[in-house]
Amino acid sequence: MRKWLIKKTRIMLCVIGTIFLILLIWTAWGNTELMTNAVAISSSRIPAAFSGFQIAQVSDLHNAEFGENNAELLKLLSESRPDIIVITGDLIDVNHTDVWIALCFAQESVKIAPTYYVTGNHEAACSQYDDLKDGLEEAGVIVLEDEAISLERGGETIALLGLADPDFKVKGDMFGEVPAMVSTKLKNLIGDESGYTILLSHRPELFETYVDGGIDLVFSGHAHGGQFRLPFIGGLVAPNQGLFPKYDAGLYTDGGTSMVVSRGIGNSIIPFRFNNRPEIVLVELNAR
Ligand SMILES: [Fe+2]
Repeated sequence: MRKWLIKKTRIMLCVIGTIFLILLIWTAWGNTELMTNAVAISSSRIPAAFSGFQIAQVSDLHNAEFGENNAELLKLLSESRPDIIVITGDLIDVNHTDVWIALCFAQESVKIAPTYYVTGNHEAACSQYDDLKDGLEEAGVIVLEDEAISLERGGETIALLGLADPDFKVKGDMFGEVPAMVSTKLKNLIGDESGYTILLSHRPELFETYVDGGIDLVFSGHAHGGQFRLPFIGGLVAPNQGLFPKYDAGLYTDGGTSMVVSRGIGNSIIPFRFNNRPEIVLVELNAR
């Protein structure tokens, strides 16, 4: 009886150990293997000339490197053949800032497609942000700090808006001022524009503000997919949203507004992900 119990315990330990090892290997693989997620956006408001327009989104790199000088990330971007690349904040990490990694990536990114950038909360907290901004602009990246520009194709245009991270003005938002501040900024940026509008903004938790502002399509990040993605539940935790965040990954729609939330690429305070591979999002616009 005793021998049988010892044998059974050994088998159980072996099974648990094997499962743990497989999970460990799978998690390590899932933290280093980049992937592309494709999203199709159809709207009658998209000008016909922009049908088939491809936008690649890179978010929350946090100074991560995939291959030497991010060669793997750049290869994946290049293979997706985007018309433009948008970077939606946290290109650097304030806890281990390396402006050079960000600039090396940007210098190659602009060779693939015109690249547009907005800041995240990590840039807002970083004393080297001015160096980063100067370097990005020198490389040819368009830095949008509460600015709007027009994208032109086949004689038609869409508006591209970019918001600086709210932390540049209101650190921590203790008094809940950010939604009103962002709403005012959006009104000023949109002005008389009545065409299709795309907004780059790091913060997904402001979705209702973007909806109220009448934005057609938003690219955001910040949530890191909820860091640990649980089967049937989704993300576990995200900054500014807490546990079980509402806007952690994927596509959200409300009325005429769609928001793409990238799970991002790098990590910050929590140095690894679970069931949450780093991703590039590739959005294709389709005129209906
Ligand atoms: Fe981030």
